[in-house]
Amino acid sequence: MTAADLRVVPSADDVARAGADIVRAAAQEAVRRRGRFTIALSGGNTPRALYALLAAPPFGGEIDWAATQVFWSDERCVPPDHPDSNYRMAREALLDRVPLPAANVHRLRGELPVPQQAAQEYRTELQVVFGKTALPRFDLLLLGLGEEGHTASLFPGVPVPADPNITVAAVFVPKVNTWRLTMTLPVLNAAAQVVFLVAGEAKQAALRALIQGPRSLDLPAQRVRPTDGVLTVLADQAAASALP
Ligand code: 6PG
Repeated sequence: MTAADLRVVPSADDVARAGADIVRAAAQEAVRRRGRFTIALSGGNTPRALYALLAAPPFGGEIDWAATQVFWSDERCVPPDHPDSNYRMAREALLDRVPLPAANVHRLRGELPVPQQAAQEYRTELQVVFGKTALPRFDLLLLGLGEEGHTASLFPGVPVPADPNITVAAVFVPKVNTWRLTMTLPVLNAAAQVVFLVAGEAKQAALRALIQGPRSLDLPAQRVRPTDGVLTVLADQAAASALP
């Protein structure tokens, strides 16, 4: 990855603020050019502060929420009100605080007893919004970075169907001993813009591997390389301190 793709900022709050700036700019550009903005939210904890910023002035009033379609890049197989739900985190931090039409919220139904059914349902939902022809191309796709190099719910050593038509997969992740729903690499790499949000000392090794390599096919985050899109890594100083 070129250094130009990496932006190091002092703190986790600065990651959130820089991320909110990117979301606002991407939303305004997409609505200006195409009349809508499609975004895939990341789960985990890091994005919470970014979502909270988007819900408040000045960001909240500068995004056309009625033209915004919200998806998730992954979800845990839990009910939507479960503390581990990525949907719940985004709903509390953002969705309940902005005038986003309910029809624009595309939730992965992690509560379904058969995860594969939830994955199939989401593949269909993507086709409804993006069309059946090509891969869904998000205007903006947010991702986190796990300590061991996972992103979305693509984990090292966890096989995911290679078929590009399988845009959403259900995977059992031994590391967390749970089923997860995740967008697959073809979708991540079809996005117009991908932003990694990385904060904290615990991410030093994963960030170093993401930025410097060595390249390994078993490091999902390293395999995020948008085919025709912009890739940005927003990292705080704590996560980036191991970089040269
Ligand atoms: C999830 C995420 C996952 C997350 C990373 C980083 O469902 O957990 O999508 O990929 O982004 O694990 O999580 P933190 O931001 O909490 O460190």
